[in-house]
Amino acid sequence: MDTVIITGGTGLIGRSLSIFLVSRGFRVIIFSRTPRTYRKSSPEISYAAWNLDEQTVNEEAFQQAKYIIHLAGAGVADKPWTDKRKREIIESRTRSSELLIKAMKSIPNNIVSVVSASAIGWYNQNIPGPATETDSPDSGFLGATCQAWEKSIQPATSLDKRLVILRTGIVLSNDGGAFPEFAKPIRYGIAGILGSGKQIISWIHIEDICRLYMEAMTNAAWSGVYNAVAPNPVNNRTFTLELAKKMKGSFYIPIPVPNFILRLMLGERSEEVLKSSNISANKLKQQGFQFIYPTIDAAFRDLIQH
Ligand SMILES: NC(=O)c1ccc[n+]([C@@H]2O[C@H](COP(=O)([O-])OP(=O)(O)OC[C@H]3O[C@@H](n4cnc5c(N)ncnc54)[C@H](OP(=O)(O)O)[C@@H]3O)[C@@H](O)[C@H]2O)c1
Repeated sequence: MDTVIITGGTGLIGRSLSIFLVSRGFRVIIFSRTPRTYRKSSPEISYAAWNLDEQTVNEEAFQQAKYIIHLAGAGVADKPWTDKRKREIIESRTRSSELLIKAMKSIPNNIVSVVSASAIGWYNQNIPGPATETDSPDSGFLGATCQAWEKSIQPATSLDKRLVILRTGIVLSNDGGAFPEFAKPIRYGIAGILGSGKQIISWIHIEDICRLYMEAMTNAAWSGVYNAVAPNPVNNRTFTLELAKKMKGSFYIPIPVPNFILRLMLGERSEEVLKSSNISANKLKQQGFQFIYPTIDAAFRDLIQH
């Protein structure tokens, strides 16, 4: 049974991914800053400590792993972007990558591949798109964060580890992240169209992102950067109204939420919901990846049922 270390595996993607990988015959060790606070949900999932400040990892856990999935990082949308928080968002990613590189250098190991998260925040929002993996990074905070993040894990390749980076779109899951936030007002009959409503949302269903991580980790044909998004992005208006129709039939009112209100509510983070992200999934398709949820209709149908 092959072992996978998932850093930050206690988060939204990691929780689903752990269960998914166990269902496919893997053993999972989650690297967490606070492993003791988590109860075992399966005999095949365990928790081990790592400490970014002291730059230490649980060596025994490290020696068992064949694969590393690197998800750790302070939440981008969780708190206002003060200078301190911005530093934390970047350093939680770069210092954790550095720790993995250091550990791979100093601890004898059998790791064959490293799959790291990145985000579609890499791309410039003002270019109509669809953006492809060779596009240069945006000069804003998210672009700079993704650039530093991807650069920090790159040395894995000189250690002879196959490296895959997944520039992830908005992950749709009932268990957290953006989807429950979109669904909340609709439950009360309010479909809030954000800003112009024209900004494109590049999304991916939680089950597809889990399948993608497994494929990237095990399939030797995968290497380098891929956009982890479904092939049919939609604009904010379509996204919201489709979801409202599915949840409420015709019992909802579309309400525009102007940019300035969003800026008052979210500050600089309003960039996250107002920017257009039209991201290409072509490279994934060329690699042969088959989506279970290629359209927003299929994704919403599933999410609303569960
Ligand atoms: N969800 C999305 O829509 C989405 C989209 C694009 C990219 N991504 C990226 O994919 C990765 C996983 O996403 P997710 O939604 O599962 O994230 P998440 O729910 O925020 O979980 C990330 C995990 O990282 C660890 N972490 C948090 N703050 C940290 C810090 N300051 N230093 C070190 N570790 C820290 C936490 O684990 P412990 O507390 O156990 O240490 C946490 O459970 C993230 O890097 C995220 O940016 C996610």
